[in-house]
Amino acid sequence: MKIVWTFTLLMIPGVMSSISLTGYSGGGVIITCRYDRKYTANAKYLCKGEKQDTPKIAWCSDLIRTETKDEWFDSGRFSLYDNTKAKVFNVTISNLSEQDSGTYQCATDISLSKDSYTEVNLNVISADCCEKSISLSAAAGGSVNISCKYPQSHSADVKFVCRRSGSDLCAEETSVKESRRWSAEGQIQLYDDREQQLLTGTISHVTQQHSAEYWCGVQSDQGHKSFITRVQINVTEANSHIISTSTSSLPSSSSFSSAESLLITSASLVTGSSLIIIVSVLLLLIIILIL
Ligand SMILES: *[C@@H]1O[C@H](CO)[C@@H](O)[C@H](O)[C@H]1NC(C)=O
Ligand SMILES: *[C@@H]1O[C@H](CO)[C@@H](O)[C@H](O)[C@H]1NC(C)=O
Ligand SMILES: *[C@@H]1O[C@H](CO)[C@@H](O)[C@H](O)[C@H]1NC(C)=O
Ligand SMILES: *[C@@H]1O[C@H](CO)[C@@H](O)[C@H](O)[C@H]1NC(C)=O
Repeated sequence: MKIVWTFTLLMIPGVMSSISLTGYSGGGVIITCRYDRKYTANAKYLCKGEKQDTPKIAWCSDLIRTETKDEWFDSGRFSLYDNTKAKVFNVTISNLSEQDSGTYQCATDISLSKDSYTEVNLNVISADCCEKSISLSAAAGGSVNISCKYPQSHSADVKFVCRRSGSDLCAEETSVKESRRWSAEGQIQLYDDREQQLLTGTISHVTQQHSAEYWCGVQSDQGHKSFITRVQINVTEANSHIISTSTSSLPSSSSFSSAESLLITSASLVTGSSLIIIVSVLLLLIIILIL
């Protein structure tokens, strides 16, 4: 009966069930809030507080609010992206701490009427299973292996590795939906071992363009993301040993080019000196003629 009722609620546009999400201290979350198409142009915001029958100002304080559409808007640890095409807005909270736990509302500003709210229950915990931050480095051309533990409670969830770009924690995403099967789509190959609660990823043939901040995380079945482990990847230039072998493997070309440049130099020297001789002979002839 409960399932049927939830399903019915989901079917009615504009009516949304509440959102529940676990965040990890040091990590971040992206909450996706739906809204009715008639509110596309309205301001969107996130505030913290539990809904009451008094005016909103008494129970919910704004954390971020914007009328900006289809691009990220930042305010401290909060960022908001109103996707007018999909009629959803994503709110990011980064650098989470346990004090961020509580009830939030993702809301649409409706002037002259009651705003529309979706309740968000965020529980931020400090998981002792998992690293908060990992730093990896590799030489260009090599490979990088990412390895992230995750809490057992998320075993059945979709796992992802996102590449961050500015305020967008998930500018590029690679995800894996099954246990013990490599996902080969995208730049990163992912493997989720649900028995070991270990997500591994491999980027092969790395270039310096792969140097960036990445995040390992889990996606709830409602589609919200929780970022658990920050992975800093630093790709250095191929080391000097590789460079010296690559030059010494082309000895003929380099000696040829230096011999060639020597020839060009002497040739220009020859033409240079003969020019001087011709000019001086001409000058001499002119002087003789004048005299
Ligand atoms: C917003 O979140 C949804 C669900 O995670 C995702 O599909 C979408 O790409 C996100 N949009 C942006 C701009 O991050
Ligand atoms: C994250 O928050 C902590 C305190 O909550 C603060 O000391 C730290 O500077 C913040 N880090 C960043 C990168 O904002
Ligand atoms: C990454 O893992 C693969 C397979 O597990 C291994 O063959 C490779 O050597 C590893 N690469 C690095 C840089 O550790
Ligand atoms: C990347 O690695 C190189 C060599 O280890 C180091 O000199 C450089 O500071 C590192 N850069 C970052 C951003 O970590």
